[in-house]
Amino acid sequence: MKRLAILASGTGSNALEIIRHFKARGMAEQLSLVASNRESAPVLDAARAEEVDTHVFSADDDGFRNLQSRLTEAGVELIALAGFLKLIPPSFLSAFQGVVVNIHPSLLPKFGGPGMYGRFVHEAVISSGETRSGCTIHVVDEEYDKGPIIAQFQCSVLNGDDAGSIASRVLSLEHYYYPRVLERLCRT
Ligand code: GRF
Repeated sequence: MKRLAILASGTGSNALEIIRHFKARGMAEQLSLVASNRESAPVLDAARAEEVDTHVFSADDDGFRNLQSRLTEAGVELIALAGFLKLIPPSFLSAFQGVVVNIHPSLLPKFGGPGMYGRFVHEAVISSGETRSGCTIHVVDEEYDKGPIIAQFQCSVLNGDDAGSIASRVLSLEHYYYPRVLERLCRT
């Protein structure tokens, strides 16, 4: 079974769901590390409270080189981005080819790319009159939100929705499915 590291920059609600799911499935050993480019990111406190190792790094070439060494030493073979807002450098991606995955809060390829994160995604969904939204789990490549799609999960966009109500519906989908997809990837 593969060992997993999570990279996150913010709240870390997905990271926490992943940690809890892995523990509930008897896969605590597979949780190697939660790494963040922000020392004050709430995700780090959440990980520490769950007794998962943490690592803070600067999102520049040196920081990614150090992170790469730490993950390699720890035998990490799967890396999940969960609200990680920095672009991953090509050298890091070639060291972990095809095993860095991300979750994005829209049905890609729609509403992805630079600047498309958080409420900007959901506001764009409303302005375009979409009746469905959801989340996409995909392999990370050198461009934002462009890598091969692993799985998508849909929900409705309802009359009267605003960005906040769609965000929470999509986040519920993420919390349910991301841990389960990662479990499957760890087991294969
Ligand atoms: C999620 O909506 C995810 O799709 C996006 O960033 C958000 C992270 O939320 N990539 P959280 O920090 O896990 O609460």
